[in-house]
Amino acid sequence: MKQYGILAYPAKHSLSPVMHNAAFKALGIDAQYGVFEKQEHELAGFIDEVREEPVSGLSVSLPYKEEIMEYLDEIEEAAQKIGAVNTVVNKGSLLYGFNTDWIGSNRALTEAVGSLEGKVVMIIGAGGSARAIAYGCLQAGAHVFIKNRTKEKADMIAIEFAELFKSHIHSVTLGEMGTGDILINTTSAWLNGNEDWQDEEIASYLKAEYLANYEAVMDIVYNPLMTPLLEAASEVGCKIITGDKMLLYQACEQFKLWTGKCAPVEVIREALEMNL
Ligand code: ATR
Repeated sequence: MKQYGILAYPAKHSLSPVMHNAAFKALGIDAQYGVFEKQEHELAGFIDEVREEPVSGLSVSLPYKEEIMEYLDEIEEAAQKIGAVNTVVNKGSLLYGFNTDWIGSNRALTEAVGSLEGKVVMIIGAGGSARAIAYGCLQAGAHVFIKNRTKEKADMIAIEFAELFKSHIHSVTLGEMGTGDILINTTSAWLNGNEDWQDEEIASYLKAEYLANYEAVMDIVYNPLMTPLLEAASEVGCKIITGDKMLLYQACEQFKLWTGKCAPVEVIREALEMNL
């Protein structure tokens, strides 16, 4: 039986096991997906075990998406440019790194609004998720604006990606946030029902007169599913894209990389919805 699993810390509450195990079962694949909750000092030893055991594939989540890259034999171009790996494939003890987050976000977005070509996308946040989403949007020909609490981090992404894509990406301040087609929150401001964001700058994005400018609003937070941003966006008639969509589609792409088979999307969607 082939072994797969999520490498993260903490990892116990990950939804990846229910998604992938449901998919393996549906397609009659003799494989099992588990949880590898590892601390920083255990990482090197764990990677050796992955090569030797072997573990056929990993999902990689916080805080290891960048650090894992040091341990891999080959990294595909998108993951290199994004600077993060969320998927590892073990082929004959050689470890290959991929990034499927940007594919997940592009699919979630296009499902709601169609082609991203020429769309104006405003991304809030400048962490690893923002980098993956910006990469996907730029690949698809969108114009990207990026806004972050710590502006220097957004500036760095904008400079780097503008050079990489010879394309339109600008770091902006709150006052410069104008109109656009799609607004995406990648920050953890309201994760797990946190209420502290109400006193912060991010609260100003939730004003109706501002949100009404957008066709669609996506939040990558899926706990809660209806975030304060999506509640406000839905009230002014925007299309809303909940955080489970990117999670679902990045997992489908991982499944394909590991098995070579198209993921049973509806099976995975159902498993995810039952566990959200
Ligand atoms: P991820 O890898 O999921 O993107 P991350 O790298 O920790 O996570 O990035 C989180 C992002 O959310 C950061 O851009 C952070 O802003 P700072 O760079 O200023 O730290 C942003 N963020 C988190 N909480 C926030 C809040 N309450 N208001 C605004 N931005 C917030």
